[in-house]
Amino acid sequence: MKKNIAPTQREIKLDDDDVIVSKTDLKGRITYANRIFMQIANYPEKALLNVQHNIVRHPDMPRGAFKLLWDTLKVEKEFFGYVKNMTADGDHYWVFANITPDRDAQGKVVGYFSVRRKPKPSAIATIQAIYQEMLEVERKAGTANAPDASIAHVVEKLKKLGTTYDRFILSI
Ligand SMILES: Cc1cc2nc3c(=O)[nH]c(=O)nc-3n(C[C@H](O)[C@H](O)[C@H](O)COP(=O)(O)O)c2cc1C
Repeated sequence: MKKNIAPTQREIKLDDDDVIVSKTDLKGRITYANRIFMQIANYPEKALLNVQHNIVRHPDMPRGAFKLLWDTLKVEKEFFGYVKNMTADGDHYWVFANITPDRDAQGKVVGYFSVRRKPKPSAIATIQAIYQEMLEVERKAGTANAPDASIAHVVEKLKKLGTTYDRFILSI
Protein backbone atom coordinates (compact mmCIF):
# COMPACT_ATOMS: atom_id res chain seq x y z
CA MET A 1 0.00 0.00 0.00
CA LYS A 2 1.32 3.39 -0.95
CA LYS A 3 0.93 5.27 2.34
CA ASN A 4 1.10 8.69 0.71
CA ILE A 5 -2.01 8.23 -1.45
CA ALA A 6 -5.21 9.56 0.11
CA PRO A 7 -8.36 7.59 -0.77
CA THR A 8 -10.82 9.75 -2.71
CA GLN A 9 -13.77 7.30 -2.32
CA ARG A 10 -14.41 7.89 -6.04
CA GLU A 11 -15.30 4.60 -7.71
CA ILE A 12 -13.98 3.44 -11.07
CA LYS A 13 -16.30 0.76 -12.49
CA LEU A 14 -14.93 -2.06 -14.60
CA ASP A 15 -16.62 -2.75 -17.95
CA ASP A 16 -18.45 -6.07 -18.30
CA ASP A 17 -15.70 -7.53 -20.46
CA ASP A 18 -12.71 -6.16 -18.51
CA VAL A 19 -10.44 -8.87 -17.12
CA ILE A 20 -7.62 -7.78 -14.81
CA VAL A 21 -4.77 -10.28 -14.74
CA SER A 22 -1.60 -10.38 -12.70
CA LYS A 23 0.98 -12.91 -11.62
CA THR A 24 3.22 -12.81 -8.57
CA ASP A 25 6.19 -14.72 -7.21
CA LEU A 26 5.81 -16.73 -3.99
CA LYS A 27 6.25 -13.59 -1.89
CA GLY A 28 3.48 -11.65 -3.66
CA ARG A 29 5.73 -9.48 -5.84
CA ILE A 30 4.15 -8.73 -9.20
CA THR A 31 5.82 -10.52 -12.13
CA TYR A 32 3.16 -9.84 -14.76
CA ALA A 33 0.40 -7.25 -15.20
CA ASN A 34 -1.95 -7.10 -18.18
CA ARG A 35 -2.87 -3.88 -19.95
CA ILE A 36 -6.30 -3.56 -18.31
CA PHE A 37 -4.65 -3.77 -14.87
CA MET A 38 -2.26 -0.96 -15.80
CA GLN A 39 -5.09 1.14 -17.28
CA ILE A 40 -7.50 0.79 -14.37
CA ALA A 41 -4.96 1.02 -11.53
CA ASN A 42 -3.26 3.79 -13.53
CA TYR A 43 0.29 2.52 -13.07
CA PRO A 44 2.83 2.03 -15.86
CA GLU A 45 4.29 -1.48 -16.08
CA LYS A 46 7.60 -0.41 -14.56
CA ALA A 47 5.85 0.82 -11.41
CA LEU A 48 4.22 -2.61 -10.91
CA LEU A 49 6.86 -5.19 -11.82
CA ASN A 50 8.81 -6.63 -8.86
CA VAL A 51 6.65 -4.60 -6.49
CA GLN A 52 4.45 -6.09 -3.74
CA HIS A 53 0.82 -6.54 -4.81
CA ASN A 54 -0.23 -4.42 -1.86
CA ILE A 55 0.59 -1.43 -4.12
CA VAL A 56 -3.16 -1.45 -4.93
CA ARG A 57 -4.31 -2.23 -1.38
CA HIS A 58 -7.14 -0.01 -0.17
CA PRO A 59 -7.27 0.91 3.54
CA ASP A 60 -10.97 -0.04 3.64
CA MET A 61 -10.01 -3.71 3.18
CA PRO A 62 -9.81 -5.69 6.44
CA ARG A 63 -6.51 -7.46 7.11
CA GLY A 64 -8.40 -10.69 7.72
CA ALA A 65 -9.46 -10.82 4.07
CA PHE A 66 -5.82 -11.02 2.99
CA LYS A 67 -4.90 -13.50 5.72
CA LEU A 68 -7.67 -15.74 4.42
CA LEU A 69 -6.25 -15.34 0.91
CA TRP A 70 -2.69 -16.25 1.93
CA ASP A 71 -3.81 -19.12 4.22
CA THR A 72 -5.70 -20.57 1.24
CA LEU A 73 -2.76 -20.19 -1.16
CA LYS A 74 -0.30 -21.69 1.35
CA VAL A 75 -2.27 -24.95 1.30
CA GLU A 76 -2.22 -24.76 -2.52
CA LYS A 77 -5.95 -24.12 -2.91
CA GLU A 78 -7.65 -21.50 -5.07
CA PHE A 79 -9.17 -18.42 -3.49
CA PHE A 80 -12.27 -16.45 -4.48
CA GLY A 81 -12.97 -13.06 -2.99
CA TYR A 82 -14.20 -9.51 -3.43
CA VAL A 83 -11.51 -6.86 -3.22
CA LYS A 84 -11.67 -3.07 -3.08
CA ASN A 85 -8.46 -1.86 -4.71
CA MET A 86 -6.94 1.60 -4.90
CA THR A 87 -5.61 3.28 -8.02
CA ALA A 88 -2.50 5.45 -8.23
CA ASP A 89 -4.79 8.48 -7.74
CA GLY A 90 -6.60 7.19 -4.64
CA ASP A 91 -9.75 6.19 -6.54
CA HIS A 92 -11.02 2.65 -6.05
CA TYR A 93 -12.33 -0.25 -8.10
CA TRP A 94 -14.11 -3.37 -6.86
CA VAL A 95 -13.21 -6.74 -8.32
CA PHE A 96 -14.29 -10.35 -7.96
CA ALA A 97 -10.96 -12.16 -7.82
CA ASN A 98 -9.87 -15.72 -8.37
CA ILE A 99 -6.32 -16.39 -7.21
CA THR A 100 -4.60 -19.71 -7.84
CA PRO A 101 -1.17 -21.25 -7.35
CA ASP A 102 0.92 -21.07 -10.55
CA ARG A 103 2.82 -24.33 -11.12
CA ASP A 104 5.85 -25.24 -13.21
CA ALA A 105 6.00 -28.29 -15.50
CA GLN A 106 6.82 -30.53 -12.52
CA GLY A 107 3.76 -29.28 -10.61
CA LYS A 108 5.78 -27.24 -8.13
CA VAL A 109 4.15 -23.96 -7.06
CA VAL A 110 6.35 -21.15 -8.38
CA GLY A 111 4.04 -18.19 -7.81
CA TYR A 112 0.42 -17.11 -7.97
CA PHE A 113 -1.98 -16.06 -10.68
CA SER A 114 -4.98 -13.80 -10.37
CA VAL A 115 -7.89 -13.08 -12.70
CA ARG A 116 -10.50 -10.48 -11.76
CA ARG A 117 -13.82 -9.38 -13.18
CA LYS A 118 -16.48 -6.80 -12.49
CA PRO A 119 -18.62 -7.84 -9.51
CA LYS A 120 -22.40 -7.53 -9.29
CA PRO A 121 -23.40 -4.33 -7.41
CA SER A 122 -25.52 -6.45 -5.03
CA ALA A 123 -22.47 -8.58 -4.17
CA ILE A 124 -20.42 -5.44 -3.46
CA ALA A 125 -23.11 -4.17 -1.10
CA THR A 126 -23.21 -7.52 0.74
CA ILE A 127 -19.45 -7.88 1.12
CA GLN A 128 -18.94 -4.21 1.99
CA ALA A 129 -21.19 -4.61 5.04
CA ILE A 130 -19.20 -7.68 6.10
CA TYR A 131 -15.86 -5.90 5.59
CA GLN A 132 -17.11 -3.01 7.74
CA GLU A 133 -17.89 -5.46 10.54
CA MET A 134 -14.46 -7.06 10.11
CA LEU A 135 -12.74 -3.66 10.32
CA GLU A 136 -14.66 -2.91 13.50
CA VAL A 137 -13.62 -6.25 15.03
CA GLU A 138 -10.01 -5.59 13.97
CA ARG A 139 -9.99 -2.14 15.59
CA LYS A 140 -11.11 -3.66 18.88
CA ALA A 141 -8.82 -6.70 18.71
CA GLY A 142 -5.53 -4.82 18.53
CA THR A 143 -2.79 -5.11 15.91
CA ALA A 144 -1.45 -8.61 16.56
CA ASN A 145 -4.81 -10.38 16.81
CA ALA A 146 -6.73 -8.33 14.24
CA PRO A 147 -6.74 -10.68 11.21
CA ASP A 148 -7.54 -13.83 13.22
CA ALA A 149 -10.26 -12.01 15.17
CA SER A 150 -12.03 -10.75 12.04
CA ILE A 151 -11.77 -14.14 10.32
CA ALA A 152 -13.26 -15.81 13.42
CA HIS A 153 -16.08 -13.25 13.37
CA VAL A 154 -16.97 -13.98 9.74
CA VAL A 155 -16.69 -17.75 10.09
CA GLU A 156 -18.99 -17.65 13.13
CA LYS A 157 -21.48 -15.34 11.41
CA LEU A 158 -21.63 -17.58 8.32
CA LYS A 159 -21.89 -20.70 10.47
CA LYS A 160 -25.01 -19.25 12.09
CA LEU A 161 -26.38 -18.72 8.57
CA GLY A 162 -25.62 -22.37 7.80
CA THR A 163 -22.82 -21.70 5.33
CA THR A 164 -19.04 -21.44 4.95
CA TYR A 165 -16.87 -18.66 3.54
CA ASP A 166 -16.22 -20.55 0.28
CA ARG A 167 -19.89 -21.32 -0.34
CA PHE A 168 -21.02 -17.85 0.69
CA ILE A 169 -18.60 -16.03 -1.62
CA LEU A 170 -19.75 -18.01 -4.64
CA SER A 171 -23.42 -17.46 -3.73
CA ILE A 172 -23.63 -13.67 -3.51
C1 LIG B 1 -1.68 -13.26 -7.12
C2 LIG B 1 -2.01 -12.27 -6.04
C3 LIG B 1 -2.82 -11.20 -6.32
C4 LIG B 1 -3.13 -10.26 -5.34
N1 LIG B 1 -3.94 -9.22 -5.67
C5 LIG B 1 -4.20 -8.26 -4.75
C6 LIG B 1 -4.99 -7.14 -5.08
O1 LIG B 1 -5.52 -7.01 -6.19
N2 LIG B 1 -5.18 -6.20 -4.12
C7 LIG B 1 -4.66 -6.30 -2.87
O2 LIG B 1 -4.86 -5.39 -2.05
N3 LIG B 1 -3.91 -7.37 -2.52
C8 LIG B 1 -3.68 -8.34 -3.43
N4 LIG B 1 -2.93 -9.43 -3.08
C9 LIG B 1 -2.52 -9.58 -1.65
C10 LIG B 1 -1.28 -8.79 -1.32
O3 LIG B 1 -0.16 -9.61 -1.59
C11 LIG B 1 -1.26 -8.38 0.17
O4 LIG B 1 -1.38 -9.54 0.98
C12 LIG B 1 -2.40 -7.43 0.55
O5 LIG B 1 -2.45 -6.33 -0.31
C13 LIG B 1 -2.24 -6.92 1.99
O6 LIG B 1 -1.06 -6.26 2.11
P1 LIG B 1 -0.46 -5.80 3.51
O7 LIG B 1 -0.49 -7.02 4.39
O8 LIG B 1 0.92 -5.32 3.23
O9 LIG B 1 -1.35 -4.73 4.03
C14 LIG B 1 -2.60 -10.39 -4.03
C15 LIG B 1 -1.77 -11.48 -3.74
C16 LIG B 1 -1.48 -12.42 -4.72
C17 LIG B 1 -0.60 -13.60 -4.39
